[in-house]
Amino acid sequence: MEFHVGVISGDGIGPEIVREAKKVLDQVGKKYGHTFNYEEILMGGISIDTHGVPLTDEAIAQAKACDAVLMGSIGGNTATSPWYQLPAEKRPEAGLLKLRKALNLFANLRPAYLYNELREACPLKDDIIGDGFDMAIMRELTGGLYFGERETKEVDGILVATDTLTYSETEIKRIAIKAFESAMKRRKKVTSVDKANVLDSSRLWRGVVDEVAQDYPEVTYEHMLVDNAAMQLVKDPRQFDVILTENMFGDILSDEASMVTGSIGMLSSASFNDTKFGLYEPSGGSAPDIAGKGIANPIATILSAAMMLRFSFDLDQEADAVEAAVKQVLKDNYRTIDIMPQHEADRATVQQVGTAQMGDLIAQRI
Ligand code: NAD
Ligand code: IPM
Ligand code: MN
Repeated sequence: MEFHVGVISGDGIGPEIVREAKKVLDQVGKKYGHTFNYEEILMGGISIDTHGVPLTDEAIAQAKACDAVLMGSIGGNTATSPWYQLPAEKRPEAGLLKLRKALNLFANLRPAYLYNELREACPLKDDIIGDGFDMAIMRELTGGLYFGERETKEVDGILVATDTLTYSETEIKRIAIKAFESAMKRRKKVTSVDKANVLDSSRLWRGVVDEVAQDYPEVTYEHMLVDNAAMQLVKDPRQFDVILTENMFGDILSDEASMVTGSIGMLSSASFNDTKFGLYEPSGGSAPDIAGKGIANPIATILSAAMMLRFSFDLDQEADAVEAAVKQVLKDNYRTIDIMPQHEADRATVQQVGTAQMGDLIAQRI
């Protein structure tokens, strides 16, 4: 089969990790008889440098015309890059938010799974890790604080900045359905995370989730306050199956969940609307501190490409093959720097490799 894949390489490590995901996809194409036609789409800092804006209307149209989009990451060092001298709506991140909104990508799935081979990279103690964990964060992606009205104004000579957090019943219902549907294919548990002891939007969230839950009697579900959830994630990550939460909480908790799986470089991500289209990207950012060094971990991007095969292209066998190749490469003791064992003593048991070599090793195992 033939597929039209939009590619947003982006900034920082973006182009380095996307190159490896394409390498793996091309190997899948060769082995299973598919063609992936790539179309580069500019977004983020590179688009600012080229067009003066982080995302053009043409780029949105390009993305819409693709079967799916594979993305690296966008943005720079937020303290030093000249992009951050620009007004907020012209910065790299504004491009990503605009794209999510334009494509109505309201459901962001971030699976956090601890490979047994990466136990030594996990900062948690062995008895907490137990026989490992496997959770998925279902993060609402087009509402909440990210998309509320905001302003900065001077009041009596003092600057006052406001961000607003709004959710409608419709927005909550559709993401809750995604979470319960996802749980039905997993271990049938949903933990809905909110701040209902303080926020109106969270109280509405709870009520709507309660209603949606009625349609899924097989799914065990619970509510958990976000501060407790942040703590429980490191205390006992095994208790979680699907975590359902709003945009900002999901952003923060997914980075936390990534670290308990060893590294942000392992955490894949897929954003969906109600069609087969998806935007697939690692959960981490452009990592300006390691960009250009050839050491970034491409696995999150490669696993995101596997999700693209599974969810947008219905190529389950091919997605399984990519996931198995990732597992095998870890079993064969190859590690990028971020997933090296935490203890010095264990480091001699593995071989450290760079971004391109990791991509090669995974492609060879397809
Ligand atoms: P970051 O995720 O880029 O980096 C945080 C830390 O994780 C850094 O030490 C980095 O080296 C490490 N890291 C991240 N990905 C890695 C990988 N694949 N392999 C090895 N190590 C990796 O977060 P940040 O530094 O807070 O943000 C940097 C920029 O990235 C900002 O401009 C931010 O807005 C942007 N960002 C973009 C996305 C995205 O494109 N989806 C996501 C998060 C952050
Ligand atoms: C992510 C990123 C983005 C977010 C930024 C770059 C806007 O951190 O995808 O997790 O906060 O959603
Ligand atoms: Mn984030």
